[in-house]
Amino acid sequence: MSDPKKKYPEAYEICEKFILNKQHMDEIVYRLTKEINMGLTRDTHPRATVKCFVTYVQELPTGKERGKYLALDLGGTNFRVLLVNLINEKDIDITGKTYAISKELQEGPGIKLFDFIASCLAEFCKENKMDQSNTPLGFTFSFPCKQVGIDNGTLVAWTKGFKAEGVVNQNVVELLRDAIKRRGDFKVNVVAILNDTTGTLMSCAFNHRNCKIGMIVGTGSNACYVEKTANTETFDGYQNSTKPNMIINCEWGAFGDNGVLDFIRTPYDHQVDKQSINPKKQIFEKCISGMYMGELVRLVLLELMEKQVIFKGQTSQSFLIKGKFDTSFITEIESDQPGSHRNAAMVMDRLGIRTNNEKDLECLRFICETISTRSARLAACGLVCLINKMNVKELTVGIDGSVYRYHPHYHRLLTENMNMLLKGSVKFELVLSEDGSGRGAALIAAVCAK
Ligand code: BGC
Repeated sequence: MSDPKKKYPEAYEICEKFILNKQHMDEIVYRLTKEINMGLTRDTHPRATVKCFVTYVQELPTGKERGKYLALDLGGTNFRVLLVNLINEKDIDITGKTYAISKELQEGPGIKLFDFIASCLAEFCKENKMDQSNTPLGFTFSFPCKQVGIDNGTLVAWTKGFKAEGVVNQNVVELLRDAIKRRGDFKVNVVAILNDTTGTLMSCAFNHRNCKIGMIVGTGSNACYVEKTANTETFDGYQNSTKPNMIINCEWGAFGDNGVLDFIRTPYDHQVDKQSINPKKQIFEKCISGMYMGELVRLVLLELMEKQVIFKGQTSQSFLIKGKFDTSFITEIESDQPGSHRNAAMVMDRLGIRTNNEKDLECLRFICETISTRSARLAACGLVCLINKMNVKELTVGIDGSVYRYHPHYHRLLTENMNMLLKGSVKFELVLSEDGSGRGAALIAAVCAK
């Protein structure tokens, strides 16, 4: 692409604010390391922003796990019930059903949300003739939870647009068991609660024994990693556990909630934060994840439209509405072959702006690239921080989430930036982890049942 600075100076001037150089990135790795250490340490944990929750998962799968397990997956706009059959090392059969979680359920009384979950589960169990089987169930609940046991997790705060009342500070496993009891028409055995990152790590480790990190870049963002049990001070048995390792759910989305990322945040980040339902929370997540990337692009475009320097100053009703520029549009636009602007023009058309002006569409792509590159660079900082912390020279990272899965260049951007930041030679492999929330939940249930 020709020099964007010359070609569209106004857009460049805005986008420049999102560019992270090596120095910024080194500083981010340094600051995140500090926050993670605070989360792990008993004395500093209460005021730490990156909580580093103990997951009570101390064993990775051996590949020998077998049997039928149920999994629930709640973490975004869809809720899934799955039946996972671990047949052998290669064959895992998953059947499931997806249910939409309406805005009313996301934002209304928590009891209704859990009644809904239980009703979906009841329906699924009946359809699959396992309503009286007391099958072990793993509950993938992808929100920050403080755990005091494998089947005991208290919701610390909602993220990703949820705000159902009466759930924060409650043990969500109990809320689920209560809802099942209220119905009384089926029996399952809720054995574990887990985060989607933990599921992702487990699912990947089933086939890649050297998997040590699970990361999600989807609607939200977070990672977990394998820590030495002896370093997990918030775990009561940390000094005398017979198991050497513990998976830590970092909850890195909250990195920056104490201001330590303000040095890289732009006015657009501040606006996205202000208009969110959880202002001043999940600052790192708001710079990285799919729930916010599209909105950042929309805000930048809107400013350029108002300055009349793009799309001949045209705007449309749609464009003025928060959230109308979906993150999947970024993926579509960046999937255009070089020199083609087909998807870009189609996206704009859907948003009510008809154009085939090449320069404008190229500029639009440049803005999308700026936002996705920053996201990938920040995620790379996070991964490098964890790799340095574990001090390993070879590992696999299991990754899932819509941004990583569908964005055409995200994998490459992560790899390049990690190579730039890692000191010494570290051999890493980034692997798309298949259905962590389902397979991972079943594997944890299987490890628990052992
Ligand atoms: C949640 C995490 C979750 C991540 C990815 C974040 O908003 O706090 O628990 O792992 O989203 O789904």
